[in-house]
Amino acid sequence: MPVCPRAIVHLTGGHTVQFHHSFGVSAASSSSSDRISLKPRRQNRMFILGVGYVGKFFGRQLINDGWVVSGTCKNANKVKELDNEGFDISLFDANKPGMSVLSSMNDYSHLLVSIPPVAQIGDLMLQQENILRDMLKGGSLRWLCYLSSTSVYGDCSGELVDEDYPANPSRGTAKLRLDAERGWLDLGKYLGVSTLVFRLGGIYGPGRSAVDTIISKKSMTDSQKMRSSKQYTSRVHVEDICQALMASMSTPQSSRIYNIVDDDPAPREEVFGFAWDMVMKKWPLLQANSSLEITRSHAIGTGSSDEKRVSNARMKRELGVRLVHPSYKSGFQSIVEQIDYIHAVHNSQVKF
Ligand SMILES: NC(=O)c1ccc[n+]([C@@H]2O[C@H](COP(=O)([O-])OP(=O)(O)OC[C@H]3O[C@@H](n4cnc5c(N)ncnc54)[C@H](OP(=O)(O)O)[C@@H]3O)[C@@H](O)[C@H]2O)c1
Repeated sequence: MPVCPRAIVHLTGGHTVQFHHSFGVSAASSSSSDRISLKPRRQNRMFILGVGYVGKFFGRQLINDGWVVSGTCKNANKVKELDNEGFDISLFDANKPGMSVLSSMNDYSHLLVSIPPVAQIGDLMLQQENILRDMLKGGSLRWLCYLSSTSVYGDCSGELVDEDYPANPSRGTAKLRLDAERGWLDLGKYLGVSTLVFRLGGIYGPGRSAVDTIISKKSMTDSQKMRSSKQYTSRVHVEDICQALMASMSTPQSSRIYNIVDDDPAPREEVFGFAWDMVMKKWPLLQANSSLEITRSHAIGTGSSDEKRVSNARMKRELGVRLVHPSYKSGFQSIVEQIDYIHAVHNSQVKF
């Protein structure tokens, strides 16, 4: 169950501002004479830079809750699809950012940044940092969250790492991630808004999981192969990312980093084996397709030695998150339950 915590922020002069689960703001004061005047409440407005897998999932929830949700993607085919779902989407390439999109961001109360850094360059949006500062200063923004990755910790020899553990990325892309985190935290500080960095484990959920890889006979991506031989791989179900985002919007704070991972950093080989058994149990005829075995054997490989167990204690303690899927096992179960037989047959291209 997603949590809907309520935070009460104490202001000088005995004022309090309560942030309710609907993310509206109401004022209360110790007497009517010193009542603080807040502008009439505007509708909550989320802007998502990069409406990808997480952005789409999260945006849908907000739209259901009555938010205005706008954002960007760089793939023209997605614009209409997302518009049909109630998003207001602009085609946007961060290599050549259009000024109209940047200036429109000023009108949003919340900003989620989901565009990953680019090799050799870094965070494309932060290349425009001065413009962003000018555009956003004095605007409506009050919450900013940058989606990062647990890769920033580098190799920690299997130690349990929390957010205070020194980040020491070993790979180039992870170094760029860390730079991007710092850049967005600085920008948020300059703007004076609640600024969060979410260090996400491997993201999975409906349409993106070992279950889907097996059914669709896709081969593993390079980053999946790199993680194959690891003893610990942190991961998190998209539903839990969304509830952590929701909770963070109700818990205003100036600047904070959170690890967003589940409780079970199991090795990829084990995870893949579990998914395989689950799929074969539900759709035994898929076994007939021997090429699926190839997919399974791909799960055993060599690669990155970035070993660490990532702690989610701060997320639970401060954001009050109770994981819907503490382990990939319940996550995969829910994914399999959502896939219908026809879909599995269609995607596997197995002749039944
Ligand atoms: N996948 C994982 O397991 C994992 C783990 C930890 C952290 N992360 C990071 O967490 C964030 C959210 O993950 P996700 O899986 O939701 O990401 P995603 O599906 O790859 O979405 C990324 C979004 O950024 C947009 N984008 C990419 N390059 C762009 C560019 N040059 N200009 C403009 N837009 C650009 C994409 O546009 P299109 O929609 O048009 O493609 C997409 O909307 C990402 O930064 C991701 O790298 C991912």
